[in-house]
Amino acid sequence: MAVRALWFSRGALVILDQRELPQRTHLRRLTTLAGVADAIRTLAVRGAPSIGVAAAYGMVLASREGRYTPARAARLLGATRPTAVDLFHGIEAVRRAWADGADPLAAADAYKDRIVEECHRIGTAGAPLFRSTRRVLTHCNAGALATVEWGTALAPLRVARQRGAHLFVWVDETRPLLQGSRLTAWELAQERIPHAVIADNAAGHFFRTGQVDAVIVGADRIARNGDFANKIGTYEKAVLAHENGVPFYVAAPWSTFDARRARGTSIPVEERSEDEVLAFAGRPTAPRQSHARNPAFDVTPARYVTAFVTPSGVVRPRAVARALDRAA
Ligand code: MRU
Repeated sequence: MAVRALWFSRGALVILDQRELPQRTHLRRLTTLAGVADAIRTLAVRGAPSIGVAAAYGMVLASREGRYTPARAARLLGATRPTAVDLFHGIEAVRRAWADGADPLAAADAYKDRIVEECHRIGTAGAPLFRSTRRVLTHCNAGALATVEWGTALAPLRVARQRGAHLFVWVDETRPLLQGSRLTAWELAQERIPHAVIADNAAGHFFRTGQVDAVIVGADRIARNGDFANKIGTYEKAVLAHENGVPFYVAAPWSTFDARRARGTSIPVEERSEDEVLAFAGRPTAPRQSHARNPAFDVTPARYVTAFVTPSGVVRPRAVARALDRAA
């Protein structure tokens, strides 16, 4: 894999600081729980599976600092971002080991290895869907940066391309923080995968004029009935896909499924600072007196999903609960 979002080395969590891409590939060494929490909160590390793995290593660092109990460290990391359920799965994997006197680092490594392996399996499970699809639209960044390696939405595209598919990717820029244009386009450019960045509000035009053959996105939390939360703007892309008869796929490892949540209506949606909307590249873009709203995610009803691409294969929304129970 050309891109790797984070790794643990010599007592530190090393992250590729995603706030600085694509201008700079800057590695940051984090040695404390507070540093990891801040990196997650400020999106230096982001994307549901990467957040979970970073938090797992944050628990490892906390166990070495000598000032936290496992429960307190879990609480502090769990307060960083509310929507991605992976965060809580990553924390819990290490909290349990630490509380039981087992090796926290071994637990975090095992959690990370599982995520990477599951994302690779998503790639092989999903690639056949794109064998003869040409133009694929994706939203936000669900690539290697968001998952440590491979990606979720990007994994099937990577594998399909390795197998000779001729793919072209429409990359939603993904306002307000531009995860599409800054991060997805960067990943695709690294691998010379043909793509074009489009303004978020241009997607309808490309659907309407028959230039989108399929959509694939990642997720931050998937309920048992197949409703799912993902980056703000995903819902409208799902409605556009439905309206235009375009298949809409959601790719995710098991850590993104919330086995205890019956439906998506109760998924907590993170609301971030209004400053992210009122400025662009550090410059104000609205009058000083104006306020903004900034929900970071929306919830898409299962009826808009053609299928989920999971590590165990392609699953229809109606079969999510059964697949989840089998994977548990
Ligand atoms: O706010 P972000 O950048 O962490 O949001 C990320 C997304 O919404 C991704 O699509 C999602 O986490 C899936 S990543 C494989």
